[in-house]
Formats: sequence, C-alpha cells, structure tokens
Amino acid sequence: MTTGHNVSFRGRYRLARVILLATALIMLILYATSSRWEPEQQQGQVAPRVLETPIVDSPATMPAKYTDPTGDRVATHPMAPGDEAFQPIDDPRVPTAKALTEHDKEISPSAEGSLYSKIGKLSMLYYNEVSKETFWYEQALAGHRIHNMRFGYKHFVLRHEIVPDIWSKQAFILSVLLQELAKPMGERLEWLFWHDADLVLMNSNIPLEIFLPPPEFSHIHHIVANDLNGLNAGVFFLRVHEWSMWYLSAVMSYTNFHPDRVLRYSEQTAMEWLIQEEKWGMNTTHVPQRWFNAYQNFGIDNTVPPEWEWKHGYYEPGDLLVHLPGTADARPEVMREWLGRVHDQSARYEIPLADTTHVKNITEFWLNDARNEKKNQDTFWRRWHILIRVGSQQDDQVREAVAQAETLADQARLSPEQKEHRVNEVKEKYRLQKIAALRRAEQEKLQEAGLLEEQAPTTDR
Ligand SMILES: *[C@@H]1O[C@H](CO)[C@@H](O)[C@H](O)[C@H]1NC(C)=O
Ligand SMILES: *[C@@H]1O[C@H](CO)[C@@H](O)[C@H](O)[C@H]1NC(C)=O
Repeated sequence: MTTGHNVSFRGRYRLARVILLATALIMLILYATSSRWEPEQQQGQVAPRVLETPIVDSPATMPAKYTDPTGDRVATHPMAPGDEAFQPIDDPRVPTAKALTEHDKEISPSAEGSLYSKIGKLSMLYYNEVSKETFWYEQALAGHRIHNMRFGYKHFVLRHEIVPDIWSKQAFILSVLLQELAKPMGERLEWLFWHDADLVLMNSNIPLEIFLPPPEFSHIHHIVANDLNGLNAGVFFLRVHEWSMWYLSAVMSYTNFHPDRVLRYSEQTAMEWLIQEEKWGMNTTHVPQRWFNAYQNFGIDNTVPPEWEWKHGYYEPGDLLVHLPGTADARPEVMREWLGRVHDQSARYEIPLADTTHVKNITEFWLNDARNEKKNQDTFWRRWHILIRVGSQQDDQVREAVAQAETLADQARLSPEQKEHRVNEVKEKYRLQKIAALRRAEQEKLQEAGLLEEQAPTTDR
C-alpha cells in the first residue's frame, strides 16, 4: 500500500514536474522572443533625454567635500554631477575668475559660486541606428570631456529630433536660450557656443573665453565665420540676450516669410541672408575661420589672387578644433583619424595657450579688423560673386584650352612627357589669365561703387 500510495504520489509529482518544466520552457521562449524584439522596438529613441551634460561632471573649482549646514541634501539638478565626482581641479590653466560664474547656486554646494563658465556648449547628435559612423560621432562628442571639465563648460546635447530636417538645431538653441533668459541676471549663462557633431576637439588647452568680444563690443551678439562658400553655421557663438531670441525666431520663420526663396543649405542659408541685412548684420561679427571653425586642409586654390586670401581657414596644430564638412562617406574614417591623432600625439596638437599666437591674433582682430566688419563682408561677398561669375567663365575656357592642347599633342604624336608639358603650359597661362580677369572684375566693381582708391595695392602684385 505504501508502495502504491508512493507510486501514485510519484506519478502526480512527475505530472507536476512536467507542467512546471513546460511552463518554464514557455516562459523562457516568451522571454527570449521578447528580448530579441527589444532593440528593434527601441530604434529611433537611442537616448531619450533632451538635455544632458554627459561631459561636465567635475566643475572647475568644486570643493572636495561638501557638508550641507542645514542637513538637507542639495536638490538634484538635472545637470548636477554625482557627489563622487566633486573633485577640485587645481589647474593653473583654468581661466581667470572673470570667466567663471556664480550662476546655478543651487548646484554650488559651498554657495561660493565659481562653478561653471559663463559659456555653455550646445550640440545635437541623434540617429536611428548605431553604426560605425555614429560610434565615431560619439567618440568625438566624448572628446570634449576634458575641455569641459577644465574650463567648466556645461554641454547641452539634443538627443532626438524636435522638428524635421536640421531645423531642430535652431529650435534647440532657442529652447536653451529661453531657459537661460528666464533665470535672474547674473545666474545665466552669458554666451552659447554651438558646434555641429562632425568635428573633433583638438586642443583642450584653449578656453572659449578668448574668442569673446571685448567690452566695447557689447552690441555684438553673434560671432560667426565664413568659409569659401559663405557663412558656415557649423560653429558659432550667440549671446544670451533678447537679440538672439529675435534672431533665432527670424531664422526659424524664414521660409514662412519668404516662401519663394530657395534655401540652398536650409537654416545656414537663412542665417547667412539675415546677417547680410543691416538689422542683424550690425550685431554680428565675422571672425577668421581658424579661430573655432578650422577645416582640414583641402588645398589652396592658386587660381585666385593671393591677396584675396581665399580659403585660409585650415586647421593647424594648436587650434581648438577641426571641422570636417564635405567629407561625405569618408567621414567616419576621417573622424577616426583625427581622434587618433589627438589621442596618440597629444603633445603635437594640444599646445598650451601661451605657446600659441591665438590671444595675440584675437586681440589684434578686435582692435582692427572687427571695426571694419561691414567693409570686410562687402569685400568677401564682392569677391564671392566675382568668383562665381568670372571665375567659372575662366574655368570653362581653361577646360576647352586643355582639351584642345591634348588633341593637338595627340595629332603631333608627342610623347606623354611632352604632352604633359604642353598641357601644363596651357594651364599656367590660363591660371594667370584667370587671376588677371578676377582682379579686373574687382576693379570694375570698385569703380562702379566709387571705392577704387582703397584697393590700389591689388593692382601691382
Ligand atoms: C545692434 O547694433 C547697433 C549698432 O551698433 C546698436 O545700436 C544696437 O543697440 C544693437 N542692438 C542690440 C539689441 O544690442
Ligand atoms: C596669427 O596671425 C599670423 C599672421 O597673420 C599667422 O601667421 C598665424 O598663423 C596666426 N595664428 C593663429 C593661431 O591664427
């Protein structure tokens, strides 16, 4: 009996075990399938937070230990670093007190201020799929970390699209701007530094503060740089000021008010056209491209008069960053190379500020060139239009002449070396002809405008 009882008990026990096992198996299968689907469901929301400062986690002069006298913990600010990150940095390269601010006292445990720079960095980086490309973009963004820590820059990074196309950039800058303007004076950031994601920070010894205009330029709220195509909106400064709000609003609503105008480079072109208007232009300064928007060297075009100094915005060791527009499919690889350079040969690229000519050049710029903003821009755009019109006519002529020289060389059965020599002679002749034609066109334009005498030196070079 005992056996029978035991048998029947064992039978039931087995059944229970089978059911249990089956349930476990089903749950396992369900779990496995659901987790396999997870990544796909999460596509498009790689990083859900709008604002974050992943990089500033150790403000420049934060006290090492903090004890709140009231016994209350400091309210956690969304950008506040964790307590363990509160380490002082006794780095002599931290800029002067002038540059550091008292704002955000709520995250200043000592209430002594001097936490963050008055400049905040802004960028955006979002994508639907993680790829080789996005990996290097993330690395480049992380490359700001030491710079941000050293000088106390908050870094606001937009991690998902707000509005279609690149207009999210303007919307995001406006949102941060309004957030700052809503704070009491003195607690605000004073400047916003926008940078696109396709650049590599090359020298974390260069504080952004050196680029800001001196006090007598308090009416300047926007600092930008042209490349050879006109404005490049990849990197620029905008003052935390009412002006900037109106300006960004004008940029964002440009297409609504000018539906007939085609914006070749969307918001960049809208910015470019607005700052050519006096209303916005008189509060904007164009500075040399190399300051904070240097490109990797694409080569100098020697068919343009050298005194035009066309295309002089190329990166050189010691510069803040290298911006990599126009590299298209090669970009991840190009970014990897630049990140590798700054990582492996830091001593070559991370030159101390005092060993560079930046401060000297910048000081001279604000003393001299900056006062001729209008004239400098007129010159830039005059030359730009001449290059488009006269330059491309000349380029057509040289193409024709080269083709003709090649045909003639073939007919004369010249050796490849002789043929190359002929072709080079033709190219050189047309190069000089193009330079002369460009200079002549500029003279004519200046004559029309009654400005000729100012440009006299260009004639005898
Ligand atoms: C813009 O610049 C002009 C010319 O210098 C100046 O008079 C004006 O006050 C500036 N606007 C603002 C909002 O600062
Ligand atoms: C400063 O200006 C000089 C003279 O124009 C130039 O040779 C040098 O490269 C500039 N340096 C920087 C860092 O822009």
